Amino acid sequence: MFARNQKIMAITTIAVCGAGTMGSGIAQAAAQNNFKTILFDVNSAVLAKAKDTIVKSIDNLTVKGKLTQAQAAQTLAQLHFTDNIADCKADVVIEAIVEKLDAKVSLLQQLALVNSEATILATNTSSIPVSAIAAAVPKPERVAGMHFFNPATIMRLVEVVRGTHTNDATIDALVTLAKQLQKQPVVCKDAPGFIVNRVARPYYLEAMQLVTNGEVTDIALIDEALQNSGFKMGPFALMDLIGLDINYSVSNIVWDALGQPKRLTPSSLQGAKVAAGDLGKKTGKGFYNYTT
Ligand SMILES: NC(=O)c1ccc[n+]([C@@H]2O[C@H](COP(=O)([O-])OP(=O)(O)OC[C@H]3O[C@@H](n4cnc5c(N)ncnc54)[C@H](O)[C@@H]3O)[C@@H](O)[C@H]2O)c1
Repeated sequence: MFARNQKIMAITTIAVCGAGTMGSGIAQAAAQNNFKTILFDVNSAVLAKAKDTIVKSIDNLTVKGKLTQAQAAQTLAQLHFTDNIADCKADVVIEAIVEKLDAKVSLLQQLALVNSEATILATNTSSIPVSAIAAAVPKPERVAGMHFFNPATIMRLVEVVRGTHTNDATIDALVTLAKQLQKQPVVCKDAPGFIVNRVARPYYLEAMQLVTNGEVTDIALIDEALQNSGFKMGPFALMDLIGLDINYSVSNIVWDALGQPKRLTPSSLQGAKVAAGDLGKKTGKGFYNYTT
């Protein structure tokens, strides 16, 4: 696999930027696998919630016997929470903030100033072209996608996305890192939606289409049918888990990138929920209601 005549960069410190749904899971996965892990968010309330979630998750793993007390203590000792970007000095930075190009570019530009040119800048974007992000960042050859799946502590797949600027050393380092995180990396092109989000679009869109067309209006029934046919989660429960804002952005970005094909038109049903602030599990209300 690593026949190229080069040493793979040693990674000891990872900075995860954005402590929301994905960032907190990625940080936990990194710390559990013995990386010094810095978790950064601009919102201190989100940071506090992430800390609480991670501590509870680690406690849970200990109770279930999946982590020893020593491993739990070691994991927590590896984690550093901060709202100061200057603390994000690392071998690899993984950004997991809002699914917006300008926000990601601005963050990575700041991170480039905080770090040396050797630091790999990875994005967990689901759908924004990695090449568009890289083009605006110094040394774009060290920028790549490192796309984890939700929940990041559990899901094995990581799409390692090669942008037009990304060099082999960056891809090799991220593939190695994914394996060290006990994930299954798949290197893919910077195509709209990469692999999984491209193929999964109709799963969400057709389900919402059934409802907006009035063909089947009971979302729980649709979820149950899909689950009983072998899917792990029904489309509505899955969108709530992902976050409706994120899922809606991904639909819009993939639709635009493919020239706005009718079959992939984003759903007004989802757009209305996003506009109302009903973003799914993370806000307590989406297609379903959640109590914390
Ligand atoms: N939710 C999913 O299922 C999923 C799966 C794979 C990839 N992703 C991708 O991961 C990224 C994050 O998604 P999420 O669901 O975790 O979002 P989220 O809304 O749960 O969290 C985003 C976090 O980013 C923080 N943030 C915003 N701007 C910031 C900045 N400039 N610096 C630091 N923090 C900032 C916010 O305070 C928030 O806590 C997106 O690019 C998304 O496409 C999401």
